Amino acid sequence: MKAEREIDRTRLKNLWSAEVERFRQDRPKSGKAWQEASANMPDGVPMLWMAKWPGPWPVFVESALGSHFTDLDGIDHVDFCLGDTGAMAGHAPAASVAALSAQLSKGSTFMLPTEDGAVAAQLLEERFGLPSWQFTLSATDANRSAIRYARQVTGRPKIAVHDYCYHGTVDETFANLDGAGRVVSRRGNIGAPVALDQTTAVVKFNDLDDLERVLSTGEIAAFLIEPALTNIGIVLPDPDYHRGVRELCTRYGTLLIIDETHTFCAGPGGMTKAENLEPDFLVIGKSIGGGVPAAAFGMTDGLARRIRESIELEDIDVGGVGGTLAGNALSLAGIRATLSKVLTPEAFGRMIERSVEWTAGVQSAIDDFGAPWQVTRLGARAEYSFRSTAPRDGAEAAAADDFELQQYLHLHALNRGILMTPFHNMALMCPETSPADVETHSTAFRDAVADLFG
Ligand SMILES: Cc1ncc(COP(=O)(O)O)c(C=O)c1O
Repeated sequence: MKAEREIDRTRLKNLWSAEVERFRQDRPKSGKAWQEASANMPDGVPMLWMAKWPGPWPVFVESALGSHFTDLDGIDHVDFCLGDTGAMAGHAPAASVAALSAQLSKGSTFMLPTEDGAVAAQLLEERFGLPSWQFTLSATDANRSAIRYARQVTGRPKIAVHDYCYHGTVDETFANLDGAGRVVSRRGNIGAPVALDQTTAVVKFNDLDDLERVLSTGEIAAFLIEPALTNIGIVLPDPDYHRGVRELCTRYGTLLIIDETHTFCAGPGGMTKAENLEPDFLVIGKSIGGGVPAAAFGMTDGLARRIRESIELEDIDVGGVGGTLAGNALSLAGIRATLSKVLTPEAFGRMIERSVEWTAGVQSAIDDFGAPWQVTRLGARAEYSFRSTAPRDGAEAAAADDFELQQYLHLHALNRGILMTPFHNMALMCPETSPADVETHSTAFRDAVADLFG
C-alpha cells in the first residue's frame, strides 16, 4: 500500500477543466433547456438549490425507471442520488405507480379520509413500533408538527438538536455551535425569524455530557435527532449513545423525536427497529410515497391522548399543524403500496448487499492509492469523506469538507453516467440497483482516484 497523499491543487484544477469541457460537449440539449428555463426561473431551476450540481448547467431528465434515468441528450445514468432519498423505492416502482394511477383516476384530494390511511398507519406501526400516526406532505412538515405538539404538551419553549443536523427547512433546526460553544445561526441560513439561541439548544453528536447539560435546564420540549447523522457525511452513534439519550430524555421530561427520513436505509424499520430505539415521536418522509409527496409522524398512545386532550375541536384548523393537502388520498395510496409491495424486507436485503459492494469498491481504491479518505456505510447508504478516520460528530465531519474536490469527483462521475447526491459524497441503493450499477461506480471512482493520486 502507498503512503497517504495530499491533493495537488493545480492538477485538480486541470482535471476539473477537462471534465467541464467534456460535459459541455456531451450535453447540448440540457444546455439549451437550461438557457430557456433561465428566462423565468433563477439559475434555470424550479428550486434554487437544484443549482448545486457540478458542471456548467444542470442535467435535465427525460425519463427514469428503477435505478437509472436518461437525460435530454439520451445519456443513461446510474442514479445513486435517487432524489436525495425521495426515490429510494426506485424510479416509477410498478406497484406504487399502479396504486397511484388508480387513485388519481378516482380523485386525489378531498380533506376526507380514505381507507388507505388506516392501512398505511398500520404498516408504519409494524415497521417502527409506534401505534398512532398522522400524515403530512413532507418530512419538514412532519418535523414541524412534532415540534409544535411537543411544545404544546410539555409547555416548554425550546428544542434541542445535534450540531450540524439537517431536518428540512424547519426554522429551529438551523442552529450550530460556534468555536466558543454558543448557539448561532448556521452559515447560509436565510431570513431567520428570531435569533436561534431563543428557540434552540445544540448538542454535539455522541456527547451525553453535553446533552445532560442542555436537558437539565428544564427548557427543552423535544430533542429532535437523526439516530445517525446523514446530512454532514454519515456519523454513526457510539454503541451506548442511544441508551443514554433515551435515559436522559426520560429523566428530564424531554420528548424524543427520531427523524428516520434518511436512516430508514438501515433496514425495513430504520434504525429504530434495528437498534430497539424508543422514540416518543418518529418522523419518516421522502421515500414512503413511492415518488409522490408523502410523510408521516408516529407517536405513543399516551402522547396522542395528551395532544388530543389539549386541542379544542373548534380550533383544530388554526393551530399551526396540518394543511389542506396533508394526508391526501394520493399520498396514502402511495404509502400503502410502497411499504407493502416495494420497500419490503426482502428488497432491503438486496439494497444492503449492493451497498456493501459499493463500499468495498470505494475502500479498495482508497487503499490502493493511499487516498487520505474514509468510507462509512449505514445499511443501504454509504458515503466517503475527505478524512482518514470516521468522524464522531458533526463538526469533525464538516471540517473534512472540500467543495472543490467534491465538485470534481461528482462531475467526473456524471460524465461517466453516474449521479451522486450533490450535497455530499453519498450513494443510496434502491431495490433495482444491480451489481453492474455498483461496478460502474467502482470503476469510475478508481479512475478518478488514480487521476488525482496516481
Ligand atoms: C433527516 C431529514 N429529515 C427531513 C428532511 C426534509 O425532507 P423534505 O425536504 O422532503 O421535507 C431531510 C431532507 O434532506 C432530511 O435529510
